[in-house]
Amino acid sequence: MAGSTAADPICTDEPLLRLESLKVYFRAARGLVRAVDGVSVALERGRTLGIVGESGSGKSVLARSVLRLLPERSTIQTGGRILFDGQDLCRLSESELRRIRGRRIAMVFQDPMTSLNPVIPIGRQIAQVLKYHLGMAPKAASARALDLLASVGVPSPRQRLEEFPHQLSGGMRQRVMIALALACDPELLIADEPTTALDVTVQAQILDLLHRQQNERGMTLILISHDLGVVAKLADRIAVMYAGRIVEQASAEALFGDMRMPYTAALFRSIPKLANPSHTRLEAIDGRPPDLAGELRGCRFAPRCRFAGDRCRDEEPPLGRKPPDHEYACWHPMHLTARGGNA
Ligand SMILES: Nc1ncnc2c1ncn2[C@@H]1O[C@H](COP(=O)(O)OP(=O)(O)OP(=O)(O)O)[C@@H](O)[C@H]1O
Ligand code: SF4
Ligand SMILES: [Mg+2]
Repeated sequence: MAGSTAADPICTDEPLLRLESLKVYFRAARGLVRAVDGVSVALERGRTLGIVGESGSGKSVLARSVLRLLPERSTIQTGGRILFDGQDLCRLSESELRRIRGRRIAMVFQDPMTSLNPVIPIGRQIAQVLKYHLGMAPKAASARALDLLASVGVPSPRQRLEEFPHQLSGGMRQRVMIALALACDPELLIADEPTTALDVTVQAQILDLLHRQQNERGMTLILISHDLGVVAKLADRIAVMYAGRIVEQASAEALFGDMRMPYTAALFRSIPKLANPSHTRLEAIDGRPPDLAGELRGCRFAPRCRFAGDRCRDEEPPLGRKPPDHEYACWHPMHLTARGGNA
C-alpha cells in the first residue's frame, strides 16, 4: 500500500492538480449522459491518486477531461475548474494546451492497440513524440528512444525499435506505452487501466515499473483501475467513483482502516485474495450501475445497496467529511476495516 518508499516525494502545500466541482456531460441519442457529475479532488506533487470504480463510472472521461481530450461536438462541460499548477486548463487555448499535453501531463491510454500506430515502428513513434514536443534532432531522438525502451525494461531494445506494435506481447506493448508517456519527463502521469487484460505476474511487473519510474522522476501519478486491489498497491490516496461521482475518498490508510461507503466495501470484497484458494468465487456486486442519461434520484447506489432505506431512495447523500480528510456520501455509513471487522 501507499507507494512512497524510495526517494521522498516533493511535496508543497499547493496541489499539482485540483479538480473543482467538475461536470462533464455528453449529448447522446439516449439523452444527456452525466458522465462526470460534480467531482472535486486534489493531488499533491509526487503523490499517487488511485481512482477506482466499475465500468462506466466515469474514470476515463475524468482522465480525458484533464487533458481536454473529449469529442468537441458532443461534450458539454457544465461547470467546474481543472487547476494544474495553479492554471485553469479549461481557459487555455488549443495551442496552449498542446504545450502541456504529452509534455507536462502525459497519459497511458486504456487500450494500447488503439493508441499506438500499427504501421509505424515503435522506435519511430517515440522519436516523433520527442521531435514534436522537445524539437529533438532525429539522431538524438532515436538515441533517447533507445534509452527509454531500456529504462522501461524492454529486452533487446535496439531490435525492438524496428518492430511494429502487433509484434509485441500485451505486457511489452504496455511498457512501450509507458515509455511514450515518459518521453518528455511529465510532471503528471495518468495511467488509465494500465494492467487490465494482463496476467497477474505481468500486472505486478507493470505496477512495479510505474512505481520505480515515479520515484526516480519525482512524478505525480493518477492510477485508474476497476480493481481496488491494483489501486491499493500504489496509491497514497484513493477516490472511489460511482455513476459519475466520487462517493468516498481518503488516504489509502484511512480508507482501508475504516471503509464507510457500502459500495467501497463491495469493491473490496471483489478483490481476489491471496489467502483464498484459487477456485474461490469472487463476490460480484449484484445489479448494474444506473443509466447516466436516465433519472438519478436519491443515492445512486440505492437499488443495489442492502442497507438502503427510504431516505436513500429520495435524497442524494452529500459528501460528508470525517476529519482530517476522509469523505464519503452515505446516509448510513459503515465502519469496516480491510481485515473484515468493524473499525
Ligand atoms: N463520447 C461519449 N458520448 C456519450 N457517452 C459517453 C462518451 N464517452 C463516455 N460516455 C459515457 O460516459 C460514461 C462513463 O464512461 P467512462 O469511459 O469514463 O467509464 P469508465 O469508468 O472509464 O469505464 P471502464 O472501466 O469500462 O473503462 C459511460 O456511461 C459512457 O457510456
Ligand atoms: S446512502 Fe443508503 S443506499 Fe446509498 S450507500 Fe448509503 S446506505 Fe446504501
Ligand atoms: Mg475507462
